[in-house]
Amino acid sequence: MARVAIVTGGTRGIGHAISVGLRDAGYKVIANYGGDDKRAEEFTKETGIPSRKWDVADFDLCTAGVKAVVAEFGAVDIVVNNAGITRDGTMRKMQREGWDKVLDTNLGGCFNMSKAVWDSMLDRGFGRIVNIGSINGQAGQYGQVNYAAAKSGIHGFTKALAQEGASKGITVNAIAPGYIDTEMVAAVPPNVLEKIVARIPVGRLGKASEIARAVLFLVADEGGFVTGSTMSINGGQHMY
Ligand code: CAA
Ligand code: NAP
Repeated sequence: MARVAIVTGGTRGIGHAISVGLRDAGYKVIANYGGDDKRAEEFTKETGIPSRKWDVADFDLCTAGVKAVVAEFGAVDIVVNNAGITRDGTMRKMQREGWDKVLDTNLGGCFNMSKAVWDSMLDRGFGRIVNIGSINGQAGQYGQVNYAAAKSGIHGFTKALAQEGASKGITVNAIAPGYIDTEMVAAVPPNVLEKIVARIPVGRLGKASEIARAVLFLVADEGGFVTGSTMSINGGQHMY
């Protein structure tokens, strides 16, 4: 039987590429999303991958969402915690709301989704959790105290949970992408983005498919010895 994988934020951008990559490798994929029904419908039509809406920032909705997936598709073997948002602004301009929203979605979402599958993974002696962090959680970024804190938190979360899963057949790893060509990056002011790209040694933005490749490596059944690691995929922008 194909292993069952949930990709949060799996309908657009990096998540889209991860969902399709996993599907092509033979996994049964369910793509979660947060609010854009139209894009999710288009995604499902184009890929044949079912999409399911819930807000990863909401603990109860994650629990209910996973329960419904299990009832429909079977126990969840793999979770890719990819859903994320930005609310950039300098400290002077950032409001508490933008802090909470980013922390609750990007970091809280990892807890909510991992918690919803954890007991079942322990019981079955198998699990793969991949958390999408960021170069900006490793290096910091001007105008992103909220995002950098959340992504940095993901890296700590990964190393701590990996220790709990290690002897139980569950691996927990993170990927720290650099600047990848998605709508999230397209929202950065062009003059700022130009300066960022100029600092990427490879000389271009990354592709979503280049992140998906790494997810496939980490979730493989043969990947049991890789845990607690963070894979940096950033075109050489930050060598950690
Ligand atoms: N370092 C030092 N100074 C900087 C700076 C930097 N990186 N960026 C901007 N500044 C300075 C500007 O030069 C300017 O200085 P002066 O006032 O002396 O002219 C001052 O800060 C204000 O800059 P802005 O006019 O840009 O201010 P703003 O309030 O309009 O915007 C901002 C601030 C929202 C942070 C904007 O600069 C911005 O969007 N920056 C991009 C942040 C970023 O990289 N976000 C990544 C989003 S994608 C993502 O997060 C994915 C991922 O994981 C990689
Ligand atoms: P994106 O194009 O903006 O797509 C975001 C996806 O997340 C969408 O499917 C969106 O669903 C979903 N989402 C947002 N909030 C959600 C919520 N509360 N609950 C459930 N789903 C939610 O972003 P991306 O660039 O692909 O980024 C994906 C992940 O990679 C994020 O965690 C991001 O921080 C991280 N990352 C990105 C880059 C980059 O350069 N792009 C670099 C490093 C790390 P809707 O369509 O319904 O909104």
